[in-house]
Amino acid sequence: MPLVTRVTDLIGNTPLFELAATETGTRLLLKLEQFNPTGAAKIRMAREMVLDAERRGLLNDGGHIIESTSGNTGLGLAVVAAERGYRFTAVVDHHACKDKLRAMRAMGAELVYVADEGDDSLATSAREDLAEAMAAARDDAYFTEQHNNDANALGYYAVAEELLADLGQVDILLSAVGTGGSLFGTARRLRELGCLPRVIGVEPVGSIAFGGPGGPYWQSGTGTPPGATVGTAVDYSLLDEGVKVADVDAFATTRAVARKVGLLIGGSAGGSVHAALTRLEEFPPGSTVVTIVCDGGEKYLDTVFDDDWMKDRDLLDESAEYEVLQLLDRYTPARRNLVGVP
Ligand SMILES: Cc1ncc(COP(=O)(O)O)c(C=O)c1O
Repeated sequence: MPLVTRVTDLIGNTPLFELAATETGTRLLLKLEQFNPTGAAKIRMAREMVLDAERRGLLNDGGHIIESTSGNTGLGLAVVAAERGYRFTAVVDHHACKDKLRAMRAMGAELVYVADEGDDSLATSAREDLAEAMAAARDDAYFTEQHNNDANALGYYAVAEELLADLGQVDILLSAVGTGGSLFGTARRLRELGCLPRVIGVEPVGSIAFGGPGGPYWQSGTGTPPGATVGTAVDYSLLDEGVKVADVDAFATTRAVARKVGLLIGGSAGGSVHAALTRLEEFPPGSTVVTIVCDGGEKYLDTVFDDDWMKDRDLLDESAEYEVLQLLDRYTPARRNLVGVP
């Protein structure tokens, strides 16, 4: 890799990891987006939204970016704002991972909370309303509005290009849906390039993008909570199937993958991996199944990987974890006994 001068030059070309393979040649591959700066996929779209606003004259020298964020978009925007000399205000809630908020602040972002300390409910629509109102009140401010911004999905076109360069073919694309940018941007670009995978979206039980009933959930950064509106970045015309995964199963998967493989993935990726692992044998033999890992597990050491936090919320389920460990054992024969293997 050549010497780079901007952190955003380090975005992309993330590695692929084979997590599982069936005897019929179906493989589950993880696109490890935690290898981007900020440890998440969303910096891809953060950069794209800012470049798009500059091209359209909506952001000028020294301007002010405002966004409602569960954390990873804000981290990406904090990097881009620092790099390009913008002021950045992140409208957040206490549902967000504390480390994401701390890191945003470290990079100069201002945080505005929509709820009081101690109220850790997910407040997506309150955040969006406040961000919109704040931007409307200032001449120099631009609300990037990730849920309804075409540049969100555009930011992931490179993911499709990287997948085709590395694999030549993707048969099933299965991934978390929050704003929808990562799954549908990747799917759209794959289609444009002549690859037509089956597209499976995953949301938490309690999220309403694939139908109700709505309710609370703890998977961070993903899903559409009841009361929030599904934005235009969710492109149902590209969706073949929407599935729901409970927090218990998503987190059991996150924890099992860490213990079995030594790979820390985030809770939303746990949901996608659970959906993929439990039906790997339903896919046509020889399928290449790709899941986008939106972020790594390091951000969830105080939550998903903390037994007390899990117990307090009734999320710790050893039998669910055991089931995932069994699946990983079944599908990772090459890793079953590595002692002595160089
Ligand atoms: C951890 C995590 N998972 C999943 C998603 C969903 O990605 P998208 O908004 O592209 O649908 C996000 C987005 O913020 C995220 O931060």
